[in-house]
Amino acid sequence: MEKLEIVTYPDKFLSQPTQPLEDIDAQVQDMIERMSATMYEAPGVGLAAIQVGWNKSLLIYDVFRDEKRSLHVLINPKIISREGEVLSENEGCLSVPDFRADVKRASAVTVEGYNRKGKPIKLDAEDFLAIVLQHEIDHLNGTLFIDRISSLKRQMYKRSVKKKLRAK
Ligand code: NI
Repeated sequence: MEKLEIVTYPDKFLSQPTQPLEDIDAQVQDMIERMSATMYEAPGVGLAAIQVGWNKSLLIYDVFRDEKRSLHVLINPKIISREGEVLSENEGCLSVPDFRADVKRASAVTVEGYNRKGKPIKLDAEDFLAIVLQHEIDHLNGTLFIDRISSLKRQMYKRSVKKKLRAK
């Protein structure tokens, strides 16, 4: 399976809202397979299409990873309710290399969307899964987790990225 290249910050591509996916055809299924190979290889627990250069409302996740792989696909997902608050500790992102930070998230969310067969699904998630879904759905809206941390911390990260880019 040919893996995909992950788009990383500060690429502006990541900060645009994605387009709804209208047709779940063979090309989409192929993309899902390549995204999953990319996510497991990274390794990561979630990946949004926009992170691999595809501006569509699609994400994949697997919070079990290697123990017992169970790939989930969400197409055109929307968070329809949020409850509570939790500190997501040391959150990270494949598109934000070498950086982690605590992020305030809802502790439970309800998400509506479609699976890869086009079947409507409604999902009640809490704890880690709720955090992963909020993080990935943020990607579909052009938001990165560093947009949700203090501006001081964000500036620190931005400076370190600039330094690295200059060093290259
Ligand atoms: Ni991410």
